[in-house]
Amino acid sequence: DSRTYPRSLEKSGPWRAFKESQCHHMLKHLHNGARITVQMPPNIEGHWVSTGCEVRAGPEFITRSYRFYHNNTFKAYQFYYGGNRCTNPIYTLVIRGKIRLRQASWIIRGGTEADYQLRSVQIISHNEAVAKKLSELVNQTCPGFIPGGSPWEHNVSYDLLREENGCECTKALNFAMHELQLIRVEKQYLHLNVDHLVEELFLGDIHTDATQRRFYRPSSYQPPLQNTKNQDHNCIACRIIYRSDEQHPPILPPKADLTIGLHGEWVSQRCEVRPEVLFLTRHFIFHDNNNTWEGHYYHYSDPICKHPTFTIYAKGRYSRGVHSSKVMGGTEFVFKVNHMKVTPMDISTASLLNVFNGNECGAQGSWQVGVQQDVTHTNGCIALGIRLPHTEYEIFKMEQDGRGRYLLYNGQRPSDGSSPDRPEKRATSYQMPLIQCTSSVPRPEESHEENKIRLYSSRAPEKHRSTPALALLFICTVSYWDILS
Ligand SMILES: *[C@@H]1O[C@H](CO)[C@@H](O)[C@H](O)[C@H]1NC(C)=O
Ligand SMILES: *[C@@H]1O[C@H](CO)[C@@H](O)[C@H](O)[C@H]1NC(C)=O
Ligand SMILES: *[C@@H]1O[C@H](CO)[C@@H](O)[C@H](O)[C@H]1NC(C)=O
Ligand SMILES: *[C@@H]1O[C@H](CO)[C@@H](O)[C@H](O)[C@H]1NC(C)=O
Repeated sequence: DSRTYPRSLEKSGPWRAFKESQCHHMLKHLHNGARITVQMPPNIEGHWVSTGCEVRAGPEFITRSYRFYHNNTFKAYQFYYGGNRCTNPIYTLVIRGKIRLRQASWIIRGGTEADYQLRSVQIISHNEAVAKKLSELVNQTCPGFIPGGSPWEHNVSYDLLREENGCECTKALNFAMHELQLIRVEKQYLHLNVDHLVEELFLGDIHTDATQRRFYRPSSYQPPLQNTKNQDHNCIACRIIYRSDEQHPPILPPKADLTIGLHGEWVSQRCEVRPEVLFLTRHFIFHDNNNTWEGHYYHYSDPICKHPTFTIYAKGRYSRGVHSSKVMGGTEFVFKVNHMKVTPMDISTASLLNVFNGNECGAQGSWQVGVQQDVTHTNGCIALGIRLPHTEYEIFKMEQDGRGRYLLYNGQRPSDGSSPDRPEKRATSYQMPLIQCTSSVPRPEESHEENKIRLYSSRAPEKHRSTPALALLFICTVSYWDILS
């Protein structure tokens, strides 16, 4: 961890070299997908829990504890909180039902589709005020659902849904369990130690617009749940959530919100999945001294980030705003992109870029695999859905993981594929975090370019991937652009 070293060392030559390799080492590790194995079809039997306080669009602060049984039934706890540290539980949902795995997903490679059926949903409020508020809310969307004169009491569980008698009033809470429609299980040996296996369950994402949540079929993932059978011992939250139930909701240890210090370099911790079929890893460099940033986006066609499709290098300015009044614990930022370079990494991407006419994406018809072009003078690249200059309204939070490393979260992309180009479209939930790889004074751009080439050069670009299907999928992503995802 670079933070533990004295600052005075950071500017000296050898130290810089070490840290350069640190960021790329971390990315390269991911690119090779070496430590992770994906189970197909996934075995989800067991008990899985959140690894921390999760933020869902809204925002909602939640922890989850899900059990899947051998007989294809499940029992899931969703614990809801009044704040971003998950220290004050307000209510809990107990969800029971059946789940059936279907086929490997056509849309999200590496994922498995599933069907589920709810048997019951029960709710229990953890204080009087919440009980009163929830019973009013539920009674509003289902008039007469709660008999006159007997509103809900706290610490008593009530049915919101029961299959046998057709009772169903989950609408008031905007409840849906569609996350069970997309599943992925990853096994990972931590610290290259064969005794230290961690299993993670990825369930489908939740729509960023709460009103769409009940109609949305997931197209990426939420933060993973961890199997309690072989837990990462650093995960204190996991142990607390594991022991909890609806009468004893988990109360996570209080922590202060960290002040955001963007300065330095940050990389993806895993091959990330975006809605609309994109797999990518990210590498950001923030210069606090002059409020500029640089981002490298390595896009791939496969869920373990092995087959590169194209790379984007972007840079611009950013400014820090205020603490979010909407999302407790979040800090607002505005990002601008002024410069951009694109490198097609496979034949189908190069061909696609060559199809576009005129001044819409670099020099017409000139794209070649592995050759970078600056597209700033064509105001970005229409083929990739990117118009320059571009502004985005962001939200950030910082955390430390179980090993004290700094994690940086930025806003989840709107699920409808649009970009948060107006303040009202600012996210209320977060993406997978980036991890800090160095907090030192960043290197000049040239060395990034060199490193990037080195990153890819261990593998020749794929030459036989230009299937029509792939091109089609790619076109589907055209409307989609983002600064930090
Ligand atoms: C399925 O298994 C669980 C755990 O063993 C049990 O509690 C539940 O009653 C079973 N459900 C059915 C429908 O058999
Ligand atoms: C629920 O709604 C019904 C009909 O709208 C009303 O008669 C009843 O008093 C309400 N219950 C509570 C607890 O507010
Ligand atoms: C709620 O009720 C359960 C048993 O019904 C009890 O164990 C628990 O302590 C109660 N919690 C509160 C906060 O009253
Ligand atoms: C901002 O600062 C960084 C690091 O000191 C430097 O590399 C970069 O060129 C500067 N950018 C601008 C636009 O001044």
